[in-house]
Amino acid sequence: MRTVGWDASRREVQLIDQRCLPGRLETVSFWDYTRLSEAIRDMVVRGAPAIGVTAAFGIALAADRSSARTIELLRADLAQADAVLRASRPTAVNLFWALDRMKRVSDQPVGGCDELRERLLTEALQMAEEDIVTNRSMAVNGAALIQDGDTIIHHCNTGALAAVDWGTALGCIREAWQQGKRVHVLVDETRPRLQGARLTAWELTQYGIPFDIISDNAAGYFLRSGQVQRVMFGADRVAANGDVANKIGTYMLALAAHANQVPVIAVMPASTIDRSLKSGDAIPIEERDAEEVLGITVHGERVTPEGATARNPAFDVTPNHLITALVTELGVVHPPFVRNLASLLGKD
Ligand code: MRU
Repeated sequence: MRTVGWDASRREVQLIDQRCLPGRLETVSFWDYTRLSEAIRDMVVRGAPAIGVTAAFGIALAADRSSARTIELLRADLAQADAVLRASRPTAVNLFWALDRMKRVSDQPVGGCDELRERLLTEALQMAEEDIVTNRSMAVNGAALIQDGDTIIHHCNTGALAAVDWGTALGCIREAWQQGKRVHVLVDETRPRLQGARLTAWELTQYGIPFDIISDNAAGYFLRSGQVQRVMFGADRVAANGDVANKIGTYMLALAAHANQVPVIAVMPASTIDRSLKSGDAIPIEERDAEEVLGITVHGERVTPEGATARNPAFDVTPNHLITALVTELGVVHPPFVRNLASLLGKD
């Protein structure tokens, strides 16, 4: 089952509702791009590549459901959908990359409204297919960095659920496992939304890969006691110098790994690299509702006192000097990242 898909008979976007996992595997359908944008914000769908493809389908959906009869009116409807989808989440650059790509299609000269509708749907469907091909290439490149017997700390969820299918960092681990390498994953629970404990653990159970869930603050203990050979995670946006924005907690994990000489490997499609930004300092960091932090319950009771306040940045930036390798579908990049990323990606 794909995380994001198009139901051709009902002409709707279909998403796995990630809020229900691991309890229930449910899909939810969307025929309205505004609701789809809310689904991105509420994390029905999450993970940078999955967000990008969902937004692309949002534009295809807006075109499909628009009653416009002239190209000008259809393009005006698409501009509105673009603005709504663009405002859903700020950090994952795949969202903007996907919407820019759909805009290039809608700006091209076209014979009529139905032709444009068809072209936009074709583009979104193609992006979904490309995502899987890209992830499979990344997986092979990243699996080559994993050795038989490795114990790997993995942060957040970067598996099939974070993409259309297969995923980024977890895709590399899955590929290594399928190649016969015996790996063990220490799954960071990933507070406050628990993408590790809920989603990564669920995926690893499906694949039969051995794992243990650890609390985020246990990572330093495992790294210092020599029980970990690699740290792996994905990325929401990578700057031209190799600084990596990823799920909150990644920076602390990379610091602890670096202090203990454990390689830190970040895995992402080339579409996650934002060459317009010189360094990670310019990456916008989403701050989410404090209730995600405050509302945690134990034995059915909220753990925080009434009136408590919280801060809830959803991402942090890991500076490039803490990173050993960046894995993409085009190849693996080592430091110095400014030069090596530029030569990997070419001039464009
Ligand atoms: O807030 P989320 O769950 O969308 O954050 C997801 C992550 O931080 C992932 O690690 C990242 O998108 C890369 S995985 C494909």
